[in-house]
Amino acid sequence: MPTSLELLDSVSSNPSLGQTPTIGELIDQRYSRRGAMKGMLGAATVAGIATGLGGCATAGALRPAQAAFRELERGVDTMHHVAPGYDANILIRWGDPLMAGDGSFDPTRQSAEDQERRFGYNNDYVGFVPLPPEARGEQRGLLCVNHEYTIAPLMLPGAAGRELTAAECEIEKAAHGGSIFEIVKHGQNWRYIQGSRFNRRITARTPRIALTGPAAGSPRLATSADPTGRTVMGTLNNCAGGITPWGSYLLAEENFNGYFTGTAVGPEAANHERYGVPGGWYEWARHDGRFDIGQEPNEPNRFGWIVEIDPMDPSSTPKKRTALGRFKHEGAESVHNRDGRVVVYSGDDQVFDYVYKFVTAGRFDPARPETRRDLLDAGTLYVARFDADGAVDWMPLIFGEGPLTAANGFAGQADVLIETRRAADLLGATPMDRPEDVEPDPRSGRVYVMLTNNTRRTADNLDAANPRADNAFGHIIEIVESEGDFAATRSTWNMLVRCGDPEVAEVGALWGPGTSENGWFGSPDNVAIDGKGRLWVSTDGSEVLNQCANGVWAVDAEGPTRGRSQLFFRTPTGAELCGPRFTPDDETLFMAVQHPGDDGEAYPPHARPSTFADPSTRWPDFDPQMPPRPSVLAVTRRGGGKIGT
Ligand code: FEO
Ligand code: CA
Ligand code: CA
Ligand code: CA
Repeated sequence: MPTSLELLDSVSSNPSLGQTPTIGELIDQRYSRRGAMKGMLGAATVAGIATGLGGCATAGALRPAQAAFRELERGVDTMHHVAPGYDANILIRWGDPLMAGDGSFDPTRQSAEDQERRFGYNNDYVGFVPLPPEARGEQRGLLCVNHEYTIAPLMLPGAAGRELTAAECEIEKAAHGGSIFEIVKHGQNWRYIQGSRFNRRITARTPRIALTGPAAGSPRLATSADPTGRTVMGTLNNCAGGITPWGSYLLAEENFNGYFTGTAVGPEAANHERYGVPGGWYEWARHDGRFDIGQEPNEPNRFGWIVEIDPMDPSSTPKKRTALGRFKHEGAESVHNRDGRVVVYSGDDQVFDYVYKFVTAGRFDPARPETRRDLLDAGTLYVARFDADGAVDWMPLIFGEGPLTAANGFAGQADVLIETRRAADLLGATPMDRPEDVEPDPRSGRVYVMLTNNTRRTADNLDAANPRADNAFGHIIEIVESEGDFAATRSTWNMLVRCGDPEVAEVGALWGPGTSENGWFGSPDNVAIDGKGRLWVSTDGSEVLNQCANGVWAVDAEGPTRGRSQLFFRTPTGAELCGPRFTPDDETLFMAVQHPGDDGEAYPPHARPSTFADPSTRWPDFDPQMPPRPSVLAVTRRGGGKIGT
């Protein structure tokens, strides 16, 4: 999530919580404390690392791990930076035309209808679906990119400090959702194909998205526009996602609460409170009654799902797969299990919320494409409990089992899914430090959980899997699924990295040997795993906290350098880094630079809120008429070859 929404994002509605300090307070505390700590480093440095390594779990078969590149210096400026010997080229920017016949983007002449034909705002998830090569052997594919949210003061002329018009709210809706488009590689350079028959936009205005699975048709999903509870207009806050083993595109709906305003009354009030509805971050309800929960109390129940789209068929109807549960899904990364079932992992991105996985009932057979159809509509959703002895228990959320009965207000599986968080509360799941990406590695049977941060964790609610109070920098947990079976219900876990500056005893960082001055990071958000089992972790932490722009760090997961990290890529000021995504040959790394310039007053050199007219950077165009543009880059090695080798 954005720096501007980070504070709101961190406010949990989990009932076990207390008060939240403001982001300004957090930054003040952290920055001044760090300054003080810097002066008293020394013996604590060594002690902190040594203690951490004592908790390091054993790794399996050793593979060459350490990434070979010269890492970047830490810092923040208006540009992006990539390690020497690599090229990071802009592939597509907010406003670039996807459909045939459209001209270049004019940010002073925006409309919703025009935006629906162009690449949306704030690119987040990046998925790659290979296509057969062209006749000349050029590599092709479809890129599937999410557009998580909008920032009106940065993207709309003159919008800072005033209410938005109805037309501007519609532009915002049209800039959400996802983009699907064809890309082709010429030599070392990727470019997108304007007007390809695959190109498509999904937005918050897409008229027909089907609700499928056990909750479809529930009266709790019915609204005045859709009394059947089976068809939704649009998708919201599409953060990360996934590409399934059969090549469909999953968009996770994350902070849907932010779009609703009004007062929660009636039977849904407690449900809405658990999800932070109404968040009141957007002005849409002033012009569109469905975002007013006083008028449409069930509308929020139609968001917070995983959306599946067939990117090969631009006329296909997107489907919200309710069997995967309703929460603030960060992503939906999946793996084809050895028994043919498919397992989808997902974090609920809120402080003190949970880690989930969904195991399909049916089996996918690549030789029989019909087996993919609606596979995500039947299966079992599990939530994780991380025990102090290193066990992880995956507990099923099944109506009628344990506490998930009528006695606790569940009339059926639809209720369990609509109120996934409350069901998981009742099962005793482990409240985590904001679960972001949860990425399985099919080669190793391991799963990596990015826990971005939780400054509301206190000394009296620590546990083995969330061991630090005031956890401003987050950590990464490794799950070792039992005997490589991703459908296992009892596995083990261990700590891969406790993030933060290992020189600061207070942070107590856990790092592998040799972590350099530049190698530490905070707030892991998304991750890609390369063919050697190395993690490429992207961050969404405050530039102030990390004393460095967000970016991508390569982290070794195995061998003697396990836990070692190196800075590979840095965003321009104000941005977070999303994606990242390798092509199957590991020769290209796509990454999404989200909210460039959205650094508010937090960081020099632009000590005032960024606006359309006066942003802190005009990356990537540096055209005085153009505001900063969220963009996807393609990183390749100069002269070719696998990234990081
Ligand atoms: Fe949208 Fe969890 O970051
Ligand atoms: Ca985030
Ligand atoms: Ca994210
Ligand atoms: Ca990922």
